[in-house]
Amino acid sequence: MEYKNVKKPNNGDWAVEANGLVKVFGDNKAVDGVNLNVKAGTIYGVLGPNGAGKTTTIRMLATLLRPDAGSARIFGHDVQKESQIVRQLIGVTGQYASVDESLSATENLIIFSRLLGLGRAEARKKAADLLEEFGLTEAAKRPLKNFSGGMRRRLDLAASLIAQPPLIFLDEPTTGLDPRTRAQMWDTIRRLVNTGSTVLLTTQYLDEADQLADRIAVIDRGHVVAEGTVDELKQSVGTSSLHLRVQNPSDIQIAQHTVEHVLQVQATLTSEAAKITAPMANADLVTDLLIALREKGITLSEVSVQKPTLDEVFLTITGHGVEEKTQEAGTETKRAEAVNV
Ligand SMILES: Nc1ncnc2c1ncn2[C@@H]1O[C@H](COP(=O)(O)OP(=O)(O)OP(=O)(O)O)[C@@H](O)[C@H]1O
Ligand SMILES: [Mg+2]
Repeated sequence: MEYKNVKKPNNGDWAVEANGLVKVFGDNKAVDGVNLNVKAGTIYGVLGPNGAGKTTTIRMLATLLRPDAGSARIFGHDVQKESQIVRQLIGVTGQYASVDESLSATENLIIFSRLLGLGRAEARKKAADLLEEFGLTEAAKRPLKNFSGGMRRRLDLAASLIAQPPLIFLDEPTTGLDPRTRAQMWDTIRRLVNTGSTVLLTTQYLDEADQLADRIAVIDRGHVVAEGTVDELKQSVGTSSLHLRVQNPSDIQIAQHTVEHVLQVQATLTSEAAKITAPMANADLVTDLLIALREKGITLSEVSVQKPTLDEVFLTITGHGVEEKTQEAGTETKRAEAVNV
């Protein structure tokens, strides 16, 4: 389609290279020197609480907002000096779906397909297929203005599948969606990447980043405070933890001593009946521990080794939870919205 004439990756590997991006609104440094590198063909998650600067960063990368400092390249093309080329390489959810609010979902998708150069029959088929895939067939004839938030979000993503640009920005694609629709969105996002696109998505949901993203940047107050694969970020927070429960509560003391002896750490008895937790740096030691417990005749009812959750990662890195608002004086309260570019 359109992208044929644009030399896509003249730098090979990088879909996004952002260096020291800054955006100041009044006296609010919304984005304060963000560096971001996204490999082509991957899903990259930008994670952060309300007001962290996620949308502002995306808007700069998508040529919708001029950076006050720093620079960014999309497939090697400068977002400021080559904004026309960049625009042909990207899709931003929210830009396209609603060509006309009074027209139906089908009509909107057909118009959009035609604008992208598809023939009449092809456009009709594409629209029907996408509406079916996104569970919107029943609502296909309804005018867009009667769509719910979740339906609109799905239609948005459907529209971005028609063009399927090389790089797609999804700003909180699943905020407020029901679990089933959310899972559907995740599948679609994976499909986009499997068929050659690169996706940069923002989210406040740690599990979403965990599920989808090859790499993650955690943004807090305009700064990237951590970057890496999900596993790297989890590891940076420290060790996994061991949880075990003994079948016979009278074994609890001796079990605790055994854990402490084998793992060489302090084990904690939780208030829950007969449960022991301990930090576990080396998961291999679990075998030694199980053997030692068996030799002492202790029967376990439950044992698990858990990696730290991304929630814990976030808390450790930023010093506050992901749900907590970081509004400072003078900053507006922001809605959690999916399409806020
Ligand atoms: N157009 C604007 N004018 C003034 N201030 C703005 C503007 N856009 C964003 N801000 C401020 O910049 C900061 C970062 O906002 P941004 O929308 O980038 O955050 P976000 O990480 O996307 O948050 P959310 O999770 O709520 O979408 C906030 O303090 C916000 O109030
Ligand atoms: Mg936002």
